[in-house]
Amino acid sequence: MRQVIVAGNWKMNASKEAVSTLVMGILSGMADVESKVVVCAPYPYLSQVEALITHSQLHLGAQDLNTNASGAFTGEVSANMVKDFGAEHVIVGHSERRSLYGETDEIVAEKVQVALDNGLTPLFCIGELLEERESGNTELVVSRQIQAVIDRVGIEAFKNIIVAYEPVWAIGTGVTATPQQAQDTHAFIRSMLAENDADIAQSTPILYGGSMNPTNAKELIGCEDIDGGLIGGASLKAEDFLQICKAG
Ligand code: 13P
Repeated sequence: MRQVIVAGNWKMNASKEAVSTLVMGILSGMADVESKVVVCAPYPYLSQVEALITHSQLHLGAQDLNTNASGAFTGEVSANMVKDFGAEHVIVGHSERRSLYGETDEIVAEKVQVALDNGLTPLFCIGELLEERESGNTELVVSRQIQAVIDRVGIEAFKNIIVAYEPVWAIGTGVTATPQQAQDTHAFIRSMLAENDADIAQSTPILYGGSMNPTNAKELIGCEDIDGGLIGGASLKAEDFLQICKAG
């Protein structure tokens, strides 16, 4: 059995006060949560979240990393730095990084490798654009995105990777993939991993992301190959996020 994982991606939404309210709110409702729960905070707030979640069931993640360990990379943050503040996870290859900051499959694969090399668990994001889905190319796109990572780190490395399938057309739009659409793509992703290693395919968590909310979470997470969620907007309200955490 794969454990349900629910991860919040706060994106660029935070203030000291909002972070405190949100994390305290989540912590107050964690007693009956069985899922593994991760919150991915913007860099400046990692330290604050680290302090707030000490001795709790909450896990901390960052939203990106630079592939270099240190040096003259103004504005960038390394794997070691986020680990220094207690992050165990890092989102890699989010569609916003791919589309707004030009991250190619190769750059994403390198980031996955650097995360793994530094003992961080990558939340490795994949997903197709609306026109790619409409032209029947969803499987082609996600397989290309996954293959780039398999080529770089090997299938064994998926023992330490969490895959997040986030159809780009469902992110922040309020349009969620139907459970059937999501399940079909998740099953395809798992079958692709299985072509490389059947056991690893069975154990790799594949999360769904894209307008997941308290209303649709249970049905989505109830699908055979959907092992949890990567949540954007609904992760910013403790009540909503907790309801999703309890949907697993
Ligand atoms: P929304 O839940 O706001 O659609 O965002 C999903 C996402 O991009 C999580 O990484």
